[in-house]
Amino acid sequence: MKARDIFAVYKDSIMPTYTKVPLIFVKGKGSKLWDIYNKQYLDFFPGWGVGSLGHCHPKVMQAVREQVSKLIFVANNYYNLPQAKLAKELTRLTFPAKVFFCNSGAEANEAAIKLARKFGDGRYEIITFENAFHGRTLAALAATGQKKYQQGFEPIPEGFRGAKLNDLPSVKSLVTDKTVAIMLELIQGEGGINLADKGFILELRKLCDEKKMLLIVDEVQTGIGRTAKMFCYENYGIIPDVITLAKALGGGLPIGVMLAKKEIADTLTAGMHASTFGGSPLVCKAALAVLQAIQKEKLLSKTEKSGKYLFSRLNELKNKYPVVKEIRGLGLMAGVELAKEGKSVVEKCMENGLLINCTHDKVLRLMPALNITRKEIDRAMIILEEALRGL
Ligand SMILES: Cc1ncc(COP(=O)(O)O)c(C=O)c1O
Repeated sequence: MKARDIFAVYKDSIMPTYTKVPLIFVKGKGSKLWDIYNKQYLDFFPGWGVGSLGHCHPKVMQAVREQVSKLIFVANNYYNLPQAKLAKELTRLTFPAKVFFCNSGAEANEAAIKLARKFGDGRYEIITFENAFHGRTLAALAATGQKKYQQGFEPIPEGFRGAKLNDLPSVKSLVTDKTVAIMLELIQGEGGINLADKGFILELRKLCDEKKMLLIVDEVQTGIGRTAKMFCYENYGIIPDVITLAKALGGGLPIGVMLAKKEIADTLTAGMHASTFGGSPLVCKAALAVLQAIQKEKLLSKTEKSGKYLFSRLNELKNKYPVVKEIRGLGLMAGVELAKEGKSVVEKCMENGLLINCTHDKVLRLMPALNITRKEIDRAMIILEEALRGL
């Protein structure tokens, strides 16, 4: 198929739910991607947070190859070894907990919402936050609370109340005898790389303890090493009651996980929740390879160093170009807030072989692979600077 034929098929036969960029990728390795014309791109936003190890990490490829020749799928009424190993590893890396496996971030959040409602035993309200993003299924959309995503899909499921991030009184004013949980991202990704303050999170933990509410942390984007800790909550000195994971955990294969403290996990019993594909041997084997690679290749300490370097380079750009208003983020999760819309910067970077993202119109989002090199950061900064110069 030629490029124009591929575009034609998309136009005719695939629902237009995505704003498309006219690039057709055929190959990826580490932080590099090649398009159909063999043009090379440096990927500073691999898979919207999926590519923590970059594209086609050799250990993930090896794990998938091995597993694919043994057993790809087996239903969840049976047992499988990779699922057991992954559950053991996730609970070793977090806290005494049990996991539920599914296939995406939205699905993991749906599972968390259902767990909270069942746990609530009549209490069902969940406090979420302005500018949050928890996914596109209906309950996750209700938790997301952003009108632009909800419009046209009403009635939106009820039971979600929107507070302001880092504003404790706005949270406290929403707590009623029906409130069962507080759900948030510690760094709002889609919302524009907005960081929760440590003091605020400690207060939320206290409030949840006092009122016997669950603290649900959506780690779909921040988890699996992104912030130089395996999980972002480790930066905050708290233990959540529930975390949700997806994106980077599968190394490119679809996975979702809802992980809950042991004492509340058995709230969901046989028949209450399910996902046909959740926790298949193939996906679990890939996820185990991801977790092993992060640990063996010391990617958390590398992320800390590379992140510091990336932020120092971004701050240089801020000092040079007044259009750059603020640099925010942690580890290798960076937001560059501009005084103007960032669409043209993204396009210019793309033209010159650098892939980045822009969210909330004005915030450039850079989330390179955790194994990104200094040389690659330098190359990206040259391209980004050129794009900013033209703004
Ligand atoms: C924080 C957060 N939660 C949930 C989701 C939804 O994940 P998925 O697209 O896998 O359903 C996303 C996706 O961007 C996300 O960033």
